[in-house]
Amino acid sequence: MTINIDLTAFQSSVIARLEATTTVSELEALRVELLGKKSLIQASLAQLGKLPQAERKQAGEQANRVKGIISAALDAASQRLANQAEAQLSGVDLSQPITIAHQVGHIHPTQAVLADVYDIFLRLGYAVVDGPEIETDWYNFEVLNMPADHPAREMQDTFYLQSNPGQAPLVPRTHTSAAQIRYMSQRQPPFKVIVPGKVYRNEDEDRTHLWSFYQVEGLVVGEDVSMADLKGTLLHVMQELFDESVKIRFRPSYFPYTEPSVEVDVWYRDEWLEICGAGMVHPDVLEKGGINPELYSGFAFGFGPDRLTVIRYGLSDIRMLWRPNLLTSRQV
Ligand code: PHE
Repeated sequence: MTINIDLTAFQSSVIARLEATTTVSELEALRVELLGKKSLIQASLAQLGKLPQAERKQAGEQANRVKGIISAALDAASQRLANQAEAQLSGVDLSQPITIAHQVGHIHPTQAVLADVYDIFLRLGYAVVDGPEIETDWYNFEVLNMPADHPAREMQDTFYLQSNPGQAPLVPRTHTSAAQIRYMSQRQPPFKVIVPGKVYRNEDEDRTHLWSFYQVEGLVVGEDVSMADLKGTLLHVMQELFDESVKIRFRPSYFPYTEPSVEVDVWYRDEWLEICGAGMVHPDVLEKGGINPELYSGFAFGFGPDRLTVIRYGLSDIRMLWRPNLLTSRQV
């Protein structure tokens, strides 16, 4: 059998069909039809051996020429489809940032407030230092004038950890004030530090209370450090955190490790909000920290960034901040 076809007509019909393909699978089907085992071209190649010697050469050449034309046309069509796919892809600029911010995640609201807190205090020349979250009863209470039988311990309901007999009792720190003596015993004044971190209390949670929350302790010791410095510092920090309209007031309070002690309220959006405990570092505490209270004085304060976050973003419930509910963090 010889393939008696009009090569020019065959070539243009094959090319027209190949050019009309729009998908790779369509093209593959055509490849099978035109060059596969059951294709006309394979059939004629298989028949070559049976032809008389005289015809074989010419028939072979013709079949191979047709095969070459089909292969080249298939390759061209395949290249065209690949180019089209690339052009479609390049319509997407992969270097563009994703613009729907909450789909890529973002900083937790309390961390955003903390970042501002660090920024403000660093600009005031404070150092940011760390203290352990699991603390000895000694640093958390005892050395801050709260011996085991002191009623002030009840101000902070405490989780106690089991400790080995003969070893110091341990507690998840109930306040960052636990870091005060640790820091004082390593440094001589003057110094200004903040100690941020998580604290733990055996509290029932409600709209305004968490059993685990952040605190930022402030501790400043130097010559002639006064209550006015404390007030000026806190006013500046709160105005930076909220806005210039903020006012603050001190109310008398009691902490065994400060004297005098105050509660600090902030006037913001037409109400007084309690934000901070503070006071002048008790001379006993300075002394236990290895600092001479005749030469130096200091102030300390402790506030809760979670509470500041509630105020800043106008949240109705502080517990929202610790629940894995994206709706909260997307909105603030
Ligand atoms: N530690 C106190 C609290 O947790 C706050 C405080 C810090 C008070 C420093 C006075 C000085 O409530």
